[in-house]
Amino acid sequence: MKVGIIGCSGMGAHHAQFICNAGFKLAVCGDTIPERAKALAAKFGADATGDCMSVCRRKDVDVVAVLTPTPYHAPYVVAAAEAGKHVFCEKPFGRTMEQCDEALDAVEKADVKLFLGHVVRYFQEFEAIKKQIEAGKVGKVGFVRTYRGGICPVGAGTWFRDWEMSGGVTMDTIIHDFDWIRYVFGDPERIYCQNLKERFGEAIDYSMVTMRMKSGIIATTTGTWAHPAGFQVKVEVCGDNGMIQYDSNEAPISSMMRANASDTPGMIVPGSPVSVSPYQLEWEDFKRWLEGNGEPRVTPEDGVWAVRIALGALESAQTGQPVTFN
Ligand SMILES: NC(=O)c1ccc[n+]([C@@H]2O[C@H](COP(=O)([O-])OP(=O)(O)OC[C@H]3O[C@@H](n4cnc5c(N)ncnc54)[C@H](O)[C@@H]3O)[C@@H](O)[C@H]2O)c1
Repeated sequence: MKVGIIGCSGMGAHHAQFICNAGFKLAVCGDTIPERAKALAAKFGADATGDCMSVCRRKDVDVVAVLTPTPYHAPYVVAAAEAGKHVFCEKPFGRTMEQCDEALDAVEKADVKLFLGHVVRYFQEFEAIKKQIEAGKVGKVGFVRTYRGGICPVGAGTWFRDWEMSGGVTMDTIIHDFDWIRYVFGDPERIYCQNLKERFGEAIDYSMVTMRMKSGIIATTTGTWAHPAGFQVKVEVCGDNGMIQYDSNEAPISSMMRANASDTPGMIVPGSPVSVSPYQLEWEDFKRWLEGNGEPRVTPEDGVWAVRIALGALESAQTGQPVTFN
């Protein structure tokens, strides 16, 4: 199967290798800045173009990978679907609900497959936490807390700092956590968010989100683009038997059992020395689905839900009121 990439900088260059590792062939690289397309294409023996819509129309392309800034995802997803191509689209699926609805509609009408790049579902640490929860290790979960961030992403232009384009740390970065929390704990009932962007501008963004899940679990997510350097992820899940913790600066995952719930308090569960990138696992999962073997870990509806949660958080930050989901 052959893939055409649209958007050839940060994620384009990152995905290209994993696309090939997963057994696809890279046919063409497209970017509105043709030099960027040429530079990436040259590494993989692919064609290059500055006319990105032509990537969707090419007869030899089976899958279009949409790896552009967020507001351009939907137009390319629509064009690819209308040309009968399957689509890999980076998160967030769209910048607005209207974009998500339009793109999903095109995909359903064309009966093509859409895979959304919610890669945190493929991080082994996060999957290990999910499995431990499902195995009942910490008992009945009451509270989950996540943290994600570092500096404002630089990107190939200034679009990350343009809040209308990126949606700041809330839409761009902690959408990963919104998706993962919903994946593990089900749909949210309501959300409340406080956001620094309103006071300091886009480059120093900070978001503190609280969700009440329909299950009754409380989830809090903090996202930052306010650090001077570095990137860090943390997770804490508390249940009536104990707690699971993960800090990317201090891997592996640790589980601490309550004294009366385990003979071995403070037990450490080692993280696996991972050799396959979660970005490659995404492409392998997508390929299995394309070949008719099972369902993918991320559905198009999951991608729509993640945008809905992020937009709910942004609305709450603006109004100072919680937002309820139907
Ligand atoms: N899953 C993850 O871990 C992860 C990480 C970073 C970014 N992302 C997402 O990936 C997407 C791309 O981010 P990035 O970091 O690669 O950005 P980037 O700025 O590094 O690269 C974007 C590329 O798209 C090109 N481009 C801009 N407008 C275009 C258009 N209309 N048509 C075609 N090409 C266009 C630019 O020239 C540039 O080469 C974003 O939606 C971002 O949120 C995901």
